[in-house]
Amino acid sequence: MKKNTVIGIIGVVLLIVVIGVIYLVSSNDNTSDNLTNSVPNRVDGDSKVLVTYFSLSETDDASNMNEDEENSTVIVDGEVLGNTQYVAMLISEYTNGDLFRIEPVTPYTTNHDDLTDQALEEQENDARPEIKDPLESIDDYDVIFVGYPIWWSDMPQILYTFLESYDFTSKTVIPQL
Ligand SMILES: Cc1cc2nc3c(=O)[nH]c(=O)nc-3n(C[C@H](O)[C@H](O)[C@H](O)COP(=O)(O)O)c2cc1C
Repeated sequence: MKKNTVIGIIGVVLLIVVIGVIYLVSSNDNTSDNLTNSVPNRVDGDSKVLVTYFSLSETDDASNMNEDEENSTVIVDGEVLGNTQYVAMLISEYTNGDLFRIEPVTPYTTNHDDLTDQALEEQENDARPEIKDPLESIDDYDVIFVGYPIWWSDMPQILYTFLESYDFTSKTVIPQL
């Protein structure tokens, strides 16, 4: 899992950063006018952006982290953030998008071994963990970024809950899932 974890971190960060950069490419600043040309035929300058993500830092204590905890976190200004959480925050900042964190009603354990077991069990059962305080609607949004870590070579099952909760017809979803 150690090697997978490192690859996972790099994968999540690269994927979302690349997507964010593509989204903003050819813009010199963050004004909505410049967004018009960012993703030709997909996004216009009046687009309302939602940056939604799931992320699970395996500790919130910046000191004495074990290797699994270090791999699942990034420390920014002394604050412990999940890897995906950090990238989602950057994209939200650059796009002026609303940020929504997907959280389960029943929190996941932060013990790495227990978490991997639980995630695998959920995947094998094709589970749909319930989302805490879900968004009532995504109707107001045109562009929706969806960020998540790789769990067992797939999205965490709660992403399936999220994606099945709304009608994404006519929405630009990044990445294209
Ligand atoms: C339950 C679990 C399963 C994982 N499975 C994979 C995997 O299959 N492949 C991989 O590259 N990384 C895997 N990882 C590593 C995560 O994708 C990686 O640590 C990620 O950066 C965590 O992002 P987060 O801090 O936003 O939650 C797994 C991590 C966990 C906790």
